[in-house]
Amino acid sequence: MNVDYEKAEREIQKILESYDPDAVLEKIVKYLYNNFKKYSWIGIYLLHGNKLVLSHWKGKNATEHNIIPIGKGICGAAAQTGKTIVVPDVSKDKRYLSCFLSTKSEIVVPIKKNNKIIGEIDIDSDLLKAFDKKDLIFLEKTAKMLSNIL
Ligand code: SME
Repeated sequence: MNVDYEKAEREIQKILESYDPDAVLEKIVKYLYNNFKKYSWIGIYLLHGNKLVLSHWKGKNATEHNIIPIGKGICGAAAQTGKTIVVPDVSKDKRYLSCFLSTKSEIVVPIKKNNKIIGEIDIDSDLLKAFDKKDLIFLEKTAKMLSNIL
């Protein structure tokens, strides 16, 4: 059987282009919110120039921090260093930009493509010390999977 490799390549490209990242991000924030009680607010920020722009979120309330410059807040610090930041008690971290009075701890996980930051997952919890090693590993894996479709 003769296979038309060029045609196959074009078809595969078409399939990949039809992938809707918006729909995927929407589903991911919903999934995390609905399945992890301690995750009180989940946001996915995408990097535009030197600013993080909130793309999708799920939680009780909207944040006023829709745009965060690199270097500002926990989010901006994670984007600057490229490393996950876990803040067990936000009241003790001077970098913290407050969004919700109920937030007690936070984790920010960078999303990277070819070693460059393209965005991040930001999760607030109403519980102190909500994020442990398991959350960190799981969310870093999630960030890696997301980077494949972004
Ligand atoms: N607390 C973050 C700001 C974003 S809100 O949590 C939604 C920070 O310190 O960067």
